Amino acid sequence: MAVLVVRGGQRLEGEISVTGSKNSALALMVGAALGKGETILENVPKYTDIPAQMAILRSLGVRVEEVESGCLLVDGTGLENEQAPYELVRKLRASFYVAGLLLGRLGRAKVPFPGGDPFGTRPVDFHLRGFQALGADVNVEYGYMVARVGNLFGRLCGAKYYINRASFGTTVNLMLAACLADGVTMLENAAREPEIVDLAMLLGKMGAKIKGAGTDMITIEGVRELRGTRHEVIPDRLETGTYMIGAAVTKGRVKVQNLMPEHVRALTIKLQEAGAEVRESASALEISCCGRLRGVDVETRPYPGFATDYQAPFVALMTTAEGVSLVRESVFDDRFAYVDELRRMGANIRIEGATAIVLGQAELTGAPVETPDIRAGVALVFAGLAAKGETRIHGVHHLDRGYERIEEKLRKIGADIIRVEEEP
Ligand code: UD1
Repeated sequence: MAVLVVRGGQRLEGEISVTGSKNSALALMVGAALGKGETILENVPKYTDIPAQMAILRSLGVRVEEVESGCLLVDGTGLENEQAPYELVRKLRASFYVAGLLLGRLGRAKVPFPGGDPFGTRPVDFHLRGFQALGADVNVEYGYMVARVGNLFGRLCGAKYYINRASFGTTVNLMLAACLADGVTMLENAAREPEIVDLAMLLGKMGAKIKGAGTDMITIEGVRELRGTRHEVIPDRLETGTYMIGAAVTKGRVKVQNLMPEHVRALTIKLQEAGAEVRESASALEISCCGRLRGVDVETRPYPGFATDYQAPFVALMTTAEGVSLVRESVFDDRFAYVDELRRMGANIRIEGATAIVLGQAELTGAPVETPDIRAGVALVFAGLAAKGETRIHGVHHLDRGYERIEEKLRKIGADIIRVEEEP
């Protein structure tokens, strides 16, 4: 069982490069499978969620190969199996996008309800209602969503659908389903994340007719068939944000490269408000921080708001800042499972409803801790870097789902962090 061992006290200093976006790549792989022809996806990260998504697509008959490091070939010509396997789908939330793929291409789908990080209840009701709006009969049978298009041609029909809460996953799934539908689909209150724009770019190159991606109204005019193409995954704004926070927690100076500064603007503003210096150039950000930061209040929101994925690392940062800060989670029901672990390290945090009340200036000390999910894992790594003594972080497989050997990257910029194997 892998454990990360962090010794506190070092400042992060130097340059670090961001990899391709996980959330984008997971959607793009399924998007590419809509096409009959070879699509090459470049800048695909090496997170463990990627091979899991590859395995799911293969089980449906899609050809997926790693042609070179960070480069995937996806060809949906052989897509024929409508049933996705439970053992694979339960591992990650993004696996549910195959529902949109199957309904779009075959007009039928049998997909188990997905797994993913434990952020409270995570239903897929918006997805299912969207498929119904596009003309599918949708039923829940023995843990599976079983959906069929009843018309003679097995083809979904374009429709207007209002998505509750600008859900990211629902927007992806319905974009996938609507590309090959008959007629025009309008997605109202659509998610505006850069990964949605990335998906629309890929699908557009494959021959889809999509307008408005990046706004809350996406219009998709269905076409008969999509072809293969070549596309580069955008940089991971969530990985970017966590390194920015890491620099601030350790009062370091870090240049984060290969990114799109506008994708992390909400975080940049909050870090500046807290007293960090953030300098932007075209594709890099330099974060420096000397002295103690001020506590600031934040609320997580869908993009372009403050991303929920920054919440846990930001709480870790606020434990070291001056004064009280209120961090409100308004995207997921319960994303504070890691708070008890920070408390073990001496953090003073109270949870009231959806808000973490963080009393700053904590003297953190190293402790054995366990991460419940990807970003909480990073929060614990950063808290460990700011703490006195040694922190041992268990549950490293969660981190591997969203970071490529995080310890190697952080070591290059001065962190004292190693991965060791421990007896279970
Ligand atoms: C995606 C990202 C995740 C990110 C999140 C918010 C992936 C694989 N995951 O998750 O990293 O933190 O967006 O930016 O890309 N909801 C429903 N019913 C539904 C769908 C969603 O009630 O059918 C609720 C969710 O429980 C949640 C909120 O809507 O409270 C937003 O969820 P959503 O935007 O769909 O997030 P995900 O796509 O699951």
